[in-house]
Formats: sequence, structure tokens, C-alpha cells
Amino acid sequence: MNAILEVVDLQVAYGKIRAVKGISFSVGEGQLVSLIGTNGAGKTTTLRTVSGLLSPTGGTISFQGRRIDNMPAHHIVELGIAHVPEGRHIFPRMSVEENLLLGAYARKGQHLGADLARVFELFPVLQERRKQAAGTFSGGEQQMLAIGRALMSGPRLLMLDEPSMGLSPIIMARIMDTLTELRERGTTILLVEQNAQAALELADYGHVLEIGRITLSDTGANLLGNAEVRKAYLGED
Ligand SMILES: Nc1ncnc2c1ncn2[C@@H]1O[C@H](COP(=O)(O)OP(=O)(O)O)[C@@H](O)[C@H]1O
Ligand SMILES: [Mg+2]
Repeated sequence: MNAILEVVDLQVAYGKIRAVKGISFSVGEGQLVSLIGTNGAGKTTTLRTVSGLLSPTGGTISFQGRRIDNMPAHHIVELGIAHVPEGRHIFPRMSVEENLLLGAYARKGQHLGADLARVFELFPVLQERRKQAAGTFSGGEQQMLAIGRALMSGPRLLMLDEPSMGLSPIIMARIMDTLTELRERGTTILLVEQNAQAALELADYGHVLEIGRITLSDTGANLLGNAEVRKAYLGED
């Protein structure tokens, strides 16, 4: 398996608080890899560090064989990593279309029309309401918009931070179906979720993160069947 993203012994701290304490994992080309863990485990910190929004205190991050730790975030976007942040962070007063075009700022105008058409095909509701202010959207629609915006950068790796947060089970299932569809079209995905069931069902491979360390790594199916995982993350006795 050709790894597109390779994280080795990554450490990240906020001052004296060590949030990520030496984790290693990789994402193969075309794979969907999930990082699961409770609140405070270090999931968001890990994604923000891969994106270049935080600098590691140790370890390395390589993307397509090239070191990206300590590269500026805009350069990392240009290399092909898109990040759908926790809480979505869409621009509420801008229209759907304006939000989507912002996602393409690193693209210098190439293939914009085709990419917009692809996002609209994936999420028809965005096309129907493309002139509407994004702030009028429901949580699920805002999540679709955040994913659409990330796709507009033409990513080789799509990273999502808790896309299911705050969504009803039906809307959540819709978002997860979209990730399956993207993956079938060949998009490589790194998914971070507290919702372990949904994240592991989709995953080729999963890692359990506990207070800054990876404690368990296996295929998504094996983790779903693991008694410890079921007890700790799926609420079983
Ligand atoms: N800006 C920050 N300043 C200080 N500590 C932080 C900050 N952001 C996160 N932390 C701490 O780092 C740890 C990991 O947080 P985070 O990566 O947000 O976890 P998760 O996304 O898994 O909930 C937690 O102990 C959290 O309190
Ligand atoms: Mg988080």
C-alpha cells in the first residue's frame, strides 16, 4: 500500500500541555482511515497539525513523500490537503456559491466550473440554494457546504473533523453516505470522529486515540468487533 500521508512519532503541545504524545499512523492512497476517541483525546490537534495550523514539537509528517511539518498552511492546501474543520466555519453572510469559490482560492481559476458542477451533483441542495446566505442553512446543509468548499480545492487528501457533530441520525447517515461515495470515486479520506460506530463502519483502517496516544489500531471491521472498543466507545456493557 502506497502511503499518501505518513505521520511518525508526532508530538504537539500547547505550552506545557502535551496534547499529542508521539503518535504514528499512515493513510494509503484511496483509503478511508478513521481516528476515534473521546473529547480531549487529541483528534483536532492532530488534524490542525497536519494542516499546518499548529507546529509539532516532535516527529515528522510526510505527504506524498515530502516533509510538510512546519510548512505554512496555504502551501499545504496547494499540495492537496483539504481540511473540513470542527464546527464547519462557513461564512454565514456570504452566499453558498461564494463560500464554495473561496475553497478554490489556491487553484488560480482552473477547472472551477467543472468542480462546482461536481459539488452540486454531490449535494443538489447547494445548487438549488446557491444564491442564498449560508447562515440560513441547517446544520446538515452547512456541513455539506463545508465539505463542498473543501472539495473545491481539488484535494488529494480530504480530512474531516467530526462531521457528524450536532446532526440528527438521518442527516448524519446522509453525510456518511457522501463520504462512502467520495471514497468510491477515489478520494483519500482521513476522518476524525467521536461517533465511533459511524466512523468505523466506513473505515478501511482505524486508530483509537486516548489522551494523546494511539492505543489500538486495526481494520475498521475488527475494531467494530473488538469487545474493549464496544465497551468504551459504543456504550456496551
Ligand atoms: N488552544 C488550546 N490551548 C490549550 N490546550 C488545548 C487547546 N486546544 C486543545 N487543548 C487541549 O489539548 C487536548 C486535546 O484537545 P483536542 O485536540 O481538541 O481533542 P479532541 O479533538 O480529541 O477533542 C485537550 O486536553 C485539550 O484541552
Ligand atoms: Mg475535536
